Amino acid sequence: MIKLPDSIKDRFPIVNRVAYANSCSQGALSVDVRAAYQRYLSDWDEKGAPWELWVQHAEAVRGRFARVLNAAPEEVAVTTSVSAGVSSLVSGLRFPEGRNKIVISDFEFPTIGQITHAQELVGRKVHHVAAAPDVTIPLERLAEEIDEETGLVAITYVSFRTGSKIDVAEVIRLAHDAGALILVDAFQAVGAIPIDVRALGADFVTGGALKYLLGSSGLGFLYCRQDLLADIVPTQTGWFADEDIFKMDIYDYSPSPTARRFESGTPPIPNIYAGVAGMDLMHEIGIAETERHVGRLTALLVEGLDRIGAKMVTPRDPAKRGPMIAVATTDEHAMVGALHEDGILTSPRDGNIRLSFHCYNSEDDIARIVDGLERHSHLLAR
Ligand SMILES: Cc1ncc(COP(=O)(O)O)c(C=O)c1O
Repeated sequence: MIKLPDSIKDRFPIVNRVAYANSCSQGALSVDVRAAYQRYLSDWDEKGAPWELWVQHAEAVRGRFARVLNAAPEEVAVTTSVSAGVSSLVSGLRFPEGRNKIVISDFEFPTIGQITHAQELVGRKVHHVAAAPDVTIPLERLAEEIDEETGLVAITYVSFRTGSKIDVAEVIRLAHDAGALILVDAFQAVGAIPIDVRALGADFVTGGALKYLLGSSGLGFLYCRQDLLADIVPTQTGWFADEDIFKMDIYDYSPSPTARRFESGTPPIPNIYAGVAGMDLMHEIGIAETERHVGRLTALLVEGLDRIGAKMVTPRDPAKRGPMIAVATTDEHAMVGALHEDGILTSPRDGNIRLSFHCYNSEDDIARIVDGLERHSHLLAR
């Protein structure tokens, strides 16, 4: 058996040209996804406006997201972004009397911060739990903040800023013990870390195809646990959320009994072609195998960072980090630019550069990155 990444490197042309360490922004383009986009164009050209085929594709991608999450397809809404799915969700959440509080962490993506703060306009209060100096969100602080007034907890699984990974099962337990619902933003984890919504007992999980699921932008999902669906009636909606899309009824609002009730208008068909291909490829490669492979690479990187005296911002404990490692710089944009000239693709955030890895990265990439950082060591913050 050929091991990662050699078994799949020829499926991702870009990784043979550069050290691609930017999957936290967008996964590398595969030949499979390119072919899927071409198929979309051929179908358009040959069949005109094949609505029925498009609906089949939308159902196919729902099935792929469900497989990734170990959910039932009826529990998955296909969205155009995390923002779209979460906005629809919170528009329909009824908070029980006396439970007006939303608890979020300081590692949330802007969309979660902004959507939850928008809920202040309808009388809800948002409480933030700050990060500790060790760049984690302390579970004890979450436990203090999540109380009998809390209606919803929103927590990011892996931080897009720092790569810090939280014990999400424990946060779900804390929320449920206090009688609150919990939304997990898994965008920086899904495809890189196996996620089993049933084993976790999560209420809501969101993410998208763009990063570690190898699809493209404009395609996301919102998982909602089956038994919660009936009580959540979104006021932010669209005709693809209706119980019968093709009835084209304009005289009432009857949302689908399934998680499709969180959808909106015409589905993002081109992105769905790409998302199905990306998720099929990821299924073939294996998410658990990828996690092990990336764990070995990030351990090597940490050794290299120590050797050159670079400061790692992400927690050192392998249990507290995912596929991304943030390194402190004095000028993150200059460092990203300098590495780019060397054929190393990374991204800047909050004074750090983010180095993120996937199934297609190799030990050679790690060596190249460590050499590059050493070469530009005047830009490293010590
Ligand atoms: C943790 C996390 N949440 C959400 C998003 C994106 O949200 P949206 O799909 O609304 O653009 C990202 C994208 O970078 C992310 O890293």
